[in-house]
Amino acid sequence: MTQKQKLIAGNWKMNGSLEANAALLQALREGVGQPACAVAVAVPAPYLAQVQSLVAGSPIALGAQDVSQHAAGAFTGEMSTAMLRDFGVRYVLVGHSERRQYHGETDVVVAAKAGQALAAGITPVVCVGETLEEREAGQTEVVVRRQLAAVIEASGGAVADMVVAYEPVWAIGTGRTATPEQAQAVHAVLRAQLAAATERAAHVPLLYGGSMNAANAAQLLAQPDIDGGLVGGASLKAADFLQIIAATQTVQA
Ligand code: PGA
Repeated sequence: MTQKQKLIAGNWKMNGSLEANAALLQALREGVGQPACAVAVAVPAPYLAQVQSLVAGSPIALGAQDVSQHAAGAFTGEMSTAMLRDFGVRYVLVGHSERRQYHGETDVVVAAKAGQALAAGITPVVCVGETLEEREAGQTEVVVRRQLAAVIEASGGAVADMVVAYEPVWAIGTGRTATPEQAQAVHAVLRAQLAAATERAAHVPLLYGGSMNAANAAQLLAQPDIDGGLVGGASLKAADFLQIIAATQTVQA
């Protein structure tokens, strides 16, 4: 079997400015060369047009951080998959823990968003992950399986067209990364769940996210079921993000 290409996706969250984005993308374009992995940046909605033109002709794909569960209409403040497509968006994060936690997104809402993206030909990056409380209560597997099951059910058979990101909530933005063994154990659970739903489970990229950085990326990416990273804080610094991208090469060599 040929080595599956890894995916490194940056999640800028609510950070950036016209000026900072231009500087970051210029540095990324200069440093990225011909990456051994797929690369994407998920940017705040107001900057989609700017970043679309900044990444044009480069190996960096454009991503959004959220999308509506509805197709169009009276949903003030929301954006549809059709709008994202207008700006060349290839990936959209759905169900990030910050959306689940601060915006009340349920498994059902997340599944509907993933369904909209799949129907529009945009790859949903479905985020799952347990809180510290849930981990300490031994609920990790139950929680991530429940979150993924909702999306699989609503995917209309297109499971293999998704990306799944395991992001333990306690590791996000805390500097407290899951160990490679902890992450691999959950990824193996998710892979098995996908395998029960599609023959192409081996091809679904399973990303790890949560304080991934230049120092720990290679070890995480070396795990058999870790196919890439969803990178928050470290994606805002060109040198760090480039080192994480380069770490996929070490792993694949
Ligand atoms: P972090 O964020 O890398 O800053 O922990 C990851 C994410 O929330 O996607």
